[in-house]
This record gives sequence, structure tokens and C-alpha cells, in this order.
Amino acid sequence: MYGELIEELAEAIRICRKCPLGELRKNAVPGEGSVRAKVMFVGEAPGEEEDNQGRPFVGRAGQLLRQLIAHIQLEEGEYYIGNVLKCRPPENRNPLPLEIEACKPYLFSQIALIKPLLIVPLGNFGLQVLVGPKLTIARARGKLFSKDGMHFFPTYHPAAVLRGSARLRQTLVEDFEEIPKLLIELGI
Ligand code: URA
Repeated sequence: MYGELIEELAEAIRICRKCPLGELRKNAVPGEGSVRAKVMFVGEAPGEEEDNQGRPFVGRAGQLLRQLIAHIQLEEGEYYIGNVLKCRPPENRNPLPLEIEACKPYLFSQIALIKPLLIVPLGNFGLQVLVGPKLTIARARGKLFSKDGMHFFPTYHPAAVLRGSARLRQTLVEDFEEIPKLLIELGI
């Protein structure tokens, strides 16, 4: 039943015209993964490759994300990958407030249907939309936040790590390695 609801939501996203990005996209990117996911990763917005394919995190940053997911041995049925925005902003610019406002009900509905045990915001946009508008990833990463019965463990966006230092990459790896431990602590 949840599978059908999440697919209905994906259909609504594919035809969405709630903000101007709907006119610019090749494909909307609703998200993908298991409706029974324990962990939900929330990125920022689709890039060029995601817009081409209609799938989240299939470009370079996606390769790194998927390597990290494999590294912590999450299996396919255990995670879901989504984004704050479902359509690509031109030239991959930052999401605008009006785009976030228009799009975030889709993310909230996905969370309500999937009910992940742990939500991992990747970068500032997921963090600020889901956990707190004044938080920054540099300070909030690697910490567990609990809010409205949900648990959040923010970390860097893989794209920031691709642009950044080896140290940053190591921090991202270490944050990911906390995820299986948190799942145990949170009681699965
Ligand atoms: N970056 C994101 O934030 N999301 C994607 O889906 C791809 C790259």
C-alpha cells in the first residue's frame, strides 16, 4: 500500500508545475529506494545527470554516495535517496526559498510514508529544511538530532567533499561509519 502511495506521489512530482523549475527540467527526480527504508538520505537538488535520467545521485557526487552506502553495507531494501528539490535548478545554482517552499511538502510526504528510522541530511539545504533553519553543516555534522519523533544525523554533501580536502573526505567516511551504530542504538 505504501508502495502505491509513494508511486502516486512520484507521479504528482513528475507533472508538478508549482514553481518555475517545472518548465525547465527534462525529468523530475522524485527519489528512489525502499518504502521500508531504515535510512533516508536527503540531498539538495538534481544535477545535470539526474535531470537527464530522472534518478537521484547518478552523477559524480552520486558515485561517492553510493560507494559510502556500500562501505557501510546498507542493502538495497534498507535505504531511500531523496532530495529537497525534485527538479534541477539552472546551472546547478542553489535552491531559492520559493522553490524550497513549493517542493518541501513532497519531501515531508515521502518521510511520512517511509517513516525512516534515521534521516541523513547531506549538506546545508537538507539540514536547514529538516532540522533547523539556522544550523550549518560544519557545526551540525556528525551529531544526532531528534525532533518530532524523528532522528537526524547530518553530514557533508558528497559534492562538497569532491571539491574539498582529503580530510573532509575522511570526515564524511567517519560520519557514514556511525550510521550502522546509530541504527543499533535506535533499536532495530
Ligand atoms: N546532488 C544532489 O544534491 N542531489 C542529487 O540527486 C545529485 C547531486
